[in-house]
Amino acid sequence: MTTFLSTFDERRLLVTDVGGTLTGGDPDGLQKLRERLDAERGAVILAYSSGRSLPLILKEIDTHQLLAPDYVISSVGTEIHRLPGEHPLDEWYRYIRPGFDRESSLAFIARHHPHLESQPEESQGPLKISFFWENAAPESLEALRHELLAANLPVQLIYSSDLYLDLIPERAGTGPAVKFLIDSLVLTPSQVFVCGDSGNDINLFQYGFRGIVVANASHELKEAVQLRAYFSHK
Ligand code: GLC
Ligand code: MG
Repeated sequence: MTTFLSTFDERRLLVTDVGGTLTGGDPDGLQKLRERLDAERGAVILAYSSGRSLPLILKEIDTHQLLAPDYVISSVGTEIHRLPGEHPLDEWYRYIRPGFDRESSLAFIARHHPHLESQPEESQGPLKISFFWENAAPESLEALRHELLAANLPVQLIYSSDLYLDLIPERAGTGPAVKFLIDSLVLTPSQVFVCGDSGNDINLFQYGFRGIVVANASHELKEAVQLRAYFSHK
């Protein structure tokens, strides 16, 4: 007897930023997306990615009546949550944590860069230290990274919107978090669509996924991902 097994995997993973990408734009577009995703619910795995913490993202979902996602990648790719649930995936946490020393990095910055203003407590995470730094030059950011590295405090700096500075572990980031997720779901990069609007989404576009840049995207994202993404014009 011959059996025909389909080797074609129709699943898709849609990873979208929330603030400025899903929300803050055209409400009709959001409604259309909601309907379309609802209709394709079986085949589309939905993940939200954001610089915010899980509680703030859940609040956004509630306020804007967004579709309930299957996963949330929060705090700029330092946590992956399978919903419903409150705790981040432990394997991801353990993989990215080595070398990240929150207390010493904070103390180093307080001592050598007192001009960096800490973001409020709700914006901090165990593996994310966030500051406000207006119009930081790329060279200043690179110098800061080197200084920290020389002090045996390796970090990755994510700078966005000419204001937000996030310090996260070297292995973390939204792109690697999605890569980790698709490995566990046994999906290939071509089955993944990523959408974003600003600098803290750049990393999402650097791992061979199919990229969508929303029309209201910032210059920093557009420039960084030229030729790598579809640019929406409305
Ligand atoms: C969100 C977070 C903030 C972070 C910024 C950029 O606004 O609340 O902490 O710095 O995204 O990633
Ligand atoms: Mg955004």
